[in-house]
Amino acid sequence: MPAYNPVTPELVKALADIAGKGNVVTDAEKLETYSHDETDASVYGHNPEVAVLPQTAEQVAQIVKLANRERVPVTPRGAGSGLSGGAIPEYGGIVLSLEKMNRLLELDKANMVAVVEAGIVTNDLANAVQAEGLFFAGYPMSLQTCVIGGNIAENAGGGKAVKYGVTGRYIIGLELVTPQGEIVQLGGKLVKDVTGYDLKSLVIGSEGTLGIVTKAVVKLIGYPSSKGDLLVLFKTAKEAIDLVPIILSKGLTPTSIEFMDQLSIQTSCRYLNESLPYENAGAMLLIELDGNNAAQIEADLIETGKLCEANGALEVYVAEDRNNIERIWNVRRNIAEAFKVFSPTQSLEDIVVPCSRIPEMIPELERLGKKYRLQIPCYGHAGDGNLHATLVKDPAMPQDVWKKNEELCLEELYQITVKFGGKISGEHGIGIKRREHLKKLIDPVELGLMRAIKNAWDPNNIMNPGKIFV
Ligand code: LAC
Ligand code: ZN
Repeated sequence: MPAYNPVTPELVKALADIAGKGNVVTDAEKLETYSHDETDASVYGHNPEVAVLPQTAEQVAQIVKLANRERVPVTPRGAGSGLSGGAIPEYGGIVLSLEKMNRLLELDKANMVAVVEAGIVTNDLANAVQAEGLFFAGYPMSLQTCVIGGNIAENAGGGKAVKYGVTGRYIIGLELVTPQGEIVQLGGKLVKDVTGYDLKSLVIGSEGTLGIVTKAVVKLIGYPSSKGDLLVLFKTAKEAIDLVPIILSKGLTPTSIEFMDQLSIQTSCRYLNESLPYENAGAMLLIELDGNNAAQIEADLIETGKLCEANGALEVYVAEDRNNIERIWNVRRNIAEAFKVFSPTQSLEDIVVPCSRIPEMIPELERLGKKYRLQIPCYGHAGDGNLHATLVKDPAMPQDVWKKNEELCLEELYQITVKFGGKISGEHGIGIKRREHLKKLIDPVELGLMRAIKNAWDPNNIMNPGKIFV
């Protein structure tokens, strides 16, 4: 463990001088809020010594400068909706929460960009630009709670990546506070920029280890005027997943192809107190298409539906009514939360494999479930190869057996994923949760380069230490 200095009363006072007394939290009970993200707090949680809520980039810079001088770790925090422990202050020190920096600063239609502070709720950004006929195509599933700074830190994916790509594609400029407390502007309102290294892209997805993003220039596109959805039911999960590469290889470009197995659907329905007529299907695909040509979308929906019928679907529904389809999307969005509530001892995974290999994953998950006596429900962004296999503890299994089986099962799952040309995290990140596995599975040359970058940017290792690697 790296050696850090404790947060002293003098440091707390200095933080209050920078950010204002009301923006410094030292009360142990209140600090609990800043001790965890959406991973299991009983496994990963850790209280910071102090939390500070700055309102400007200059304040962030002063805080970081101070922490770097005093050798106190700083953990940046967005909404705390992460799923790999990225916002957890494992070594105590300062949590720097961006919750008060949540403004939309500029909507520049001429350049099709929005400039936002890092703490803006992603949904607020999406709604504000939609009101102007514009679209932020990054779409994490936790859209309503997560913030753009966290999306950038994790390079979040979500349900539209199959057509629109991930968050990073839409972040063309950043304001960053470096681990030395300098403010730097990377990229800008530019479509092209090869002026030296692409540091902006290095920061995106670096899990807050290379600095604190305070502002972002977000690329917008026109809001698609038409949308259509298909709900496709299958007897088994394997049949549903088998269809995904078939759809993709026909050159249809769905906005989303989301997959849910039976247990995932039922658990989310139970959590939402929702009742769907198709709850007993073995698995579902939720397919969305969007664009500006309603007739084309209609034709593509029909073609996709026919393809499904010809390849093992039990039933294909074309959503006639937006309210109904929104109910199903809501079920999809709430699966992770539902498992967290009903099966709190679990491991939510986000393996990603080339799309052509996902059919091979389902039998492997079934085999692993049997071998380690775990339930492994699965759902996710099948259209981009990113699956949320979730290892769930049987209530009857003793805790120590679960721990051992979970570990062995994860190791085997990750090895299979890599063997298929995949990676252990498609969108949730390494954080604390996967760092030991990363070490074993990544090319040592690649890991060495990552460490060299971290050391060069943050020689005192004060910026979100312990994430990605220790
Ligand atoms: C989802 C989150 C868990 O896709 O990534 O629901
Ligand atoms: Zn997801």
